[in-house]
Parts: sequence; structure tokens; C-alpha cells
Amino acid sequence: MQKTKKVYLDNAATSPMDPEVIKAITEVMETTFGNPSASHSFGRSAKAVLETARKKIAKYINAEAKEIIFTSGGTEADNMAIRCAVNDLGIKHIITSPMEHKAVLSTSQELADKGLVELHLIDVDTKGVVDLDQLEKVAAQYPKSLISLMHANNEIGTLLDYKRVSRIAKANNCLFHSDTVQTMGHYRFDVQEFGADFLTCSAHKLHGPKGIGFLYANKKLNLKALITGGGQEGNHRAGTENVMGIVGLAKSLEIAFDNVEEEQEQIYAVKKYMIDQLKEHVSEVQINGLTSMEGGLYTVLNCSLPPQENNDLILFQLDIEGVCCSGGSACNSGAATGSHVLNAIKHDPNRKAIRFSFGRFTGNEDVDYAVEVLSKLLKPTSVVV
Ligand SMILES: Cc1ncc(COP(=O)(O)O)c(C=O)c1O
Repeated sequence: MQKTKKVYLDNAATSPMDPEVIKAITEVMETTFGNPSASHSFGRSAKAVLETARKKIAKYINAEAKEIIFTSGGTEADNMAIRCAVNDLGIKHIITSPMEHKAVLSTSQELADKGLVELHLIDVDTKGVVDLDQLEKVAAQYPKSLISLMHANNEIGTLLDYKRVSRIAKANNCLFHSDTVQTMGHYRFDVQEFGADFLTCSAHKLHGPKGIGFLYANKKLNLKALITGGGQEGNHRAGTENVMGIVGLAKSLEIAFDNVEEEQEQIYAVKKYMIDQLKEHVSEVQINGLTSMEGGLYTVLNCSLPPQENNDLILFQLDIEGVCCSGGSACNSGAATGSHVLNAIKHDPNRKAIRFSFGRFTGNEDVDYAVEVLSKLLKPTSVVV
């Protein structure tokens, strides 16, 4: 029996591990099993590995080592920023957008439901651009708020004008948290230039391991812990550190930051190629979000198919044909209500939106196959009722 060809176009959900990262993790698993908090030599060598990774990461983003707090990934880092800001930093208002990742939206909503904060949602337009004039007014009305706006939207890729957000935050004594899970390592980062108090990272979005990430927290904040019960991470996050994951995270960031410009060019070329191919072979296709290098995340391409009967089955059919992509974010795939991001940009519910997302290992041949399968499935003769 002939095996189905498979193409992976879901790198924004998670990305395949880079062989160099696997090598680095394997090495540390073989050599360094000590508990970094132990005072004997095994513990000390694990501690050395841990702190070397922290310093390396901090250097890449122009932060101080003590500003990097390792977490179990992006969700925990987002939770920590928001909950610690409310628990310990006197935040009574959260200003965010309806397009944020659920790690931000649900967390903020929960805090609002408990009466701990008031939530203010800033409008977004049909391309996913946040209304920063409105932000300016709301921040002036509620100074000392927490502004939480993501750097790039994970479903449609639209980028935030973070410099302006940072200026607005500073002018109104607000804290600024940006979910940078989809962008850390995909762009160069300088925390001073970015001007946020909190940034987040997750290794599995950049060819690293799952279950590890970090929160950058500006040292001036004197942040307390969210997870308590031990003095690890400078008293910021209790629990024995995931040393092998942290080594994998540092390696994945090293590879990413050492090759940012080359990868941007390479991956953006694949994205542009796919846009051209879709426009040529899929009639009435619409591209969602901003697609220029300046306006949109180069790893994400979200498109809408013309309304037709088999739209709801299309992802399933693509999967059967070996094309792996997603209908929204992977974290939302169980939700019955549809994508909150697509709702926020007033996407036509009669059209099916598909997110294709690219990584280091994606090539034009993957795009060719995906577009070939998609156009075949959309031919009237293949309609499944
Ligand atoms: C924008 C954004 N924030 C947060 C997360 C959650 O990250 P993690 O899977 O590491 O918990 C994701 C993952 O899908 C994401 O895309």
C-alpha cells in the first residue's frame, strides 16, 4: 500500500525539534542529572548548566539573568505576569484586546469575575490591528493599569505596534505585558527597545522542547512567586527546575538568534509563495490579517475559503490527504464556539478559515502539495455531503 505523503504546516501550534536541540538535551540527560538545589557536586554541576543557560538567554534579549524566570511554557508565563501583577503589584484594571491568547483572556476574565480587576477590551479592526487611539484614551482614564497586548496574533499573525504601546504605558504609569510566544526568536529582541515589563517565551514554538519557556520580568518590579513551595528561580517559581528542558530552550534560542535574518527571509519567501499559489489555484480565497513583513508574522498565513457545503470537513479531509494545518489555534481546537480571534475581526462565518504556519523545515514543495490537495478538495465534484 502506498503511504500518504505528509506535509506539516502547523508550526504555530508546535514545531518539530531541531536535531541540534535534541543533541544538546540528550547530552545533558546523560551527564547532568543532579538537582540544581543540591549542594554536592552533582547539584552544583546542574546549577552551573542552569545558570549558564539563563545568562545566555538573557544576553540574547539584552536582559539581566535575574529577569529570566523559567516556567513550564507560554501559558504559565502569561498567567504569572497577569496574576502576579494583580496579586502583588496593585493592579486593579487590565486593558487588553478580544484577540489575545486564552492564557491572557481567560485569566483576565477570571480575575474580573472574582471582582479583583475591571477588564477593558480595546477594539480591533478587520485585519486584527488594535485601536491604539482608543488604548491611549482608556489608559489615560485608568492609569496604573496592566496593558496586555500580544506581539503577534497566533491565528492571523497581525503584529502589534509595541513601541507605541510602550509609550502609552509609560505615559500613564501602566505596566505592559506582551505575549511574545509566537515571536521570541523569530525576531531580534532587545527588552530595553521593546519597552515592556513582561515578555513570554515557549520553546516548542521555535523548534525546542515542549513544557518549557520563560517569563521576562523587569527587575524593578520586585515580582513575587505565583507557584510557591520552594526557593528556586530566585524565589520566583518554586519546583525543581526542568534542567534538560532549559538546556533545550537555550539551544533553540541560540540557533534562532544566530540565524534570525536568514530565516526571516527564507520563511517569508515560503509564505509569499503560498499566497501566490492560493490566489492562483483557489478561487475567491481571502487572506486574513496583515501579510507584509512589517504588518504580519512571517510564519503564519491565515486564509478563508469560499462558502461551500464541505467547508466544515475540509481540515479533516486535508489531514486524510496528509496536509497538517489548523482551523484556528491548536489550544482552541476543542471549542465549539469557533475562534474568538476570527469573531473579533468579524470574519464571515460562512467561510472556513485555515491557518498554515511555517518553520525552519518548511519548503515550497510542502506548499505545492498542500495547494494541490486543497484545490482538488474544493472542486465541485469532490463535495462531500
Ligand atoms: C500566543 C500564544 N500564547 C501562549 C501560548 C501557550 O504556550 P504554551 O503552549 O507553551 O503553554 C501559545 C501557544 O499556542 C500561543 O500561541
